[in-house]
Amino acid sequence: MKNVLIIGATGQIGTELTMKLRGMYPNGDIVAGYIKGAEPKGVLAESGPSAEVDITNPNQIADAVEKYKVDTIYNLAALLSAVAESRPQLAWKIGVGGLYNTLEVAREKNCAVFTPSSIGSFGPETPHDMTPQDTIQRPQTIYGVTKVTGEMLSDYYARRFGVDTRSVRFPGLISYVAPPGGGTTDYAVDIYYSAIKGETFKCPLHAGTFMDMMYMPDALRAAVEIMEADPSRLVHRNSFNIASMSFDPEIIYNKIKEYVPDFKMEYVPDPLRQAIADSWPNSLDDTCAREEWDWKPEYDLDKMTRDMLSHLRVKLGVAEAEMAL
Ligand code: SER
Repeated sequence: MKNVLIIGATGQIGTELTMKLRGMYPNGDIVAGYIKGAEPKGVLAESGPSAEVDITNPNQIADAVEKYKVDTIYNLAALLSAVAESRPQLAWKIGVGGLYNTLEVAREKNCAVFTPSSIGSFGPETPHDMTPQDTIQRPQTIYGVTKVTGEMLSDYYARRFGVDTRSVRFPGLISYVAPPGGGTTDYAVDIYYSAIKGETFKCPLHAGTFMDMMYMPDALRAAVEIMEADPSRLVHRNSFNIASMSFDPEIIYNKIKEYVPDFKMEYVPDPLRQAIADSWPNSLDDTCAREEWDWKPEYDLDKMTRDMLSHLRVKLGVAEAEMAL
C-alpha cells in the first residue's frame, strides 16, 4: 500500500482509518473520498488530499484513482442495517452497484480492494453460537443481502480477473470519533454517550440479545493487516470472521456502571432493530483469521470501556471529578 483511496472517508470507520493510514504511510497519498454534504473537516481535511467520490459515479472513482496513482481502495460506503430497511433500493445501489463500480475501476487500473462485510451477512438459519467461517448465510435484511453479494462478487473478481480483493466481517464497531449511521449495533456506542452525559439510556434491544462487538482500534488494525497479509497464506478472501467480544445490553450496562455508578438504563424496545439482532449470530468463530493472517484482538470489554469513557469525557467536556474513573 502506498497511495490509497478511502471511499466513505468521513464515516465512522473512514474518519479514523484515513488518519491511521496517513500516519503509517507518510510518503504516499491517502485520499479521503467523500460525498457532497459530508466533506472532510478539521484535521481530516488538513492532513492530506481529498476528492469528491460518490461510489455510484464510476467516473469519480476512476478520476481519483488516476490522479493519485491509487494502488489500494478501501470501499467503506454503505447504509447500515436499520436505515437500509427504510431505503432498500438505495442500499442496493450503494452496496452492490457501488461495489461493482469500484471493482471495475480496480480491474482496469490494477488496484487492491477492501470492502467490509459484517455479522449482518448472516441470517436466522446460521448457527448462532461460534458461527463458523464457512456456513449458511441467507440474511433477511437488505444490508445483509448486499454484504453476501459483496463477498461473492469480490471473490469472483479475484478468481476471474485477479483483482486483489480481501475483507473481514466486522462486528458492531464501537468508537468515539465519528458516530455510526443507523445500524443495529449502534446502541453499544450510544450507551457510552448517555453514561457520560448523565442521561438514562433508553436501550432499544432487550436483555439477552447477544452480538459480537469490537473496539475501533482493533477494527482498524484488522482492515490494515488483512490487506498487508502474505497472500500465499490466505485460503479465504471475502470475507474473514473476526471477533473480540460478545455481550448483551445487561453486560455492557453493568460494566459501565462499575465506572459510572449512578448510570441508569431502561428498555424501550425497537421492534425493527430487535428483529434484525435476533437474526444475527451471538458470537463468531474467527479461527481462520487467526490461522491465515495472525489476527488477534487487543481490547476486551473492560479495556474498551475505560478507554471509551475517558475519551468521551474529554470530547464532551465532563470534568474528571464528576466521573468515578
Ligand atoms: N454495525 C452494523 C449494523 O448494525 C453491522 O455490521 O448495521
